[in-house]
Amino acid sequence: LAFAHIPVMLREVLETIQPRAGGRYLDGTVGGGGHAAGILAGSAPSGWLYGCDRDEAAVAAAQKKLAAYGERFEIRPMNYVDAGAWVAPGTCDGVLLDLGVSSAQLDTADRGFSFLQDGPLDMRMDRRCGPTAAELLAEVSLDALARLFWEYGEEPLSKRIAAAIVAFRDRGRLQTTGDLVALVERVVSRRGGRIHPATRVFQALRIAVNDELGTLERGLPTLWSLLAPRGRLVVISFHSLEARLVKHFGRNLERNYAWEGSIDIPEKRIPKAPQARRLYRHAVRPSEAEMAVNPRARSAQLRAYEKT
Ligand SMILES: C[S@@+](CC[C@H](N)C(=O)[O-])C[C@H]1O[C@@H](n2cnc3c(N)ncnc32)[C@H](O)[C@@H]1O
Repeated sequence: LAFAHIPVMLREVLETIQPRAGGRYLDGTVGGGGHAAGILAGSAPSGWLYGCDRDEAAVAAAQKKLAAYGERFEIRPMNYVDAGAWVAPGTCDGVLLDLGVSSAQLDTADRGFSFLQDGPLDMRMDRRCGPTAAELLAEVSLDALARLFWEYGEEPLSKRIAAAIVAFRDRGRLQTTGDLVALVERVVSRRGGRIHPATRVFQALRIAVNDELGTLERGLPTLWSLLAPRGRLVVISFHSLEARLVKHFGRNLERNYAWEGSIDIPEKRIPKAPQARRLYRHAVRPSEAEMAVNPRARSAQLRAYEKT
């Protein structure tokens, strides 16, 4: 089952990036290499792809999947936030971010991402660093835990769940995804709902363990700086918090004015050339047909910006 990953909105990504021979591309979340393979095929015979993933298992899978493209790519196990130390500024024709978890991560029980399979409460994409979900649940204060579930998971019962977790600390440590699911199910009686009762808590923990929002916020300007003029940045996001960061980033690039001081007052505006052109008025959504075959696609939104 490992890396039976269907790339989300592959056609839309390729239509937007428009890979061509001689072009240079960066896939910051290369995963199993699905989009990357499309970019390499589309840029034959001389296009180049940089790919990175903070998950070493993904890097190994992508290396294998892309082997057929010979000497036209390099893949590194690293965080896209550090891509500025690897790729020269102003040199890429397209940069792709396909955020979130891969099917391989979700389906591998011992990575701890899934509430449907029992495994250690890990959730780190990069297992070389950072606290695991279990460590976070054992150490974070009651208030911070409640805030985490509320802000990253929009979990309405954030306080009660946080309180139950802290109370549990006296008895022992939450070790497995099954422990956490059982605890959440005891607090939440949302049986028969549209989503599993632990969905929001798992999403929130995963975002926190991997600092996904901080990384995206710091990564977007870096990735933007790598684009050549007319180069395109394409971002697929999977929840509203990511989408908001991308929209905000894009809006600042598109703006044709700056302002003096810390707040935008119309009288203090100074005209400036926009740095980007938004390619789609609204976020692009997957087709009904794609959502039917790939549940992971259901919440996907694609946004794209071209450097002026
Ligand atoms: C949705 S999957 C990408 C799938 C890929 N587009 C494909 O077609 O196979 C997201 C991947 O991004 C990786 N990832 C998430 N945040 C990252 C970061 N900050 N730096 C590098 N990789 C990251 C995850 O480890 C995961 O493998």
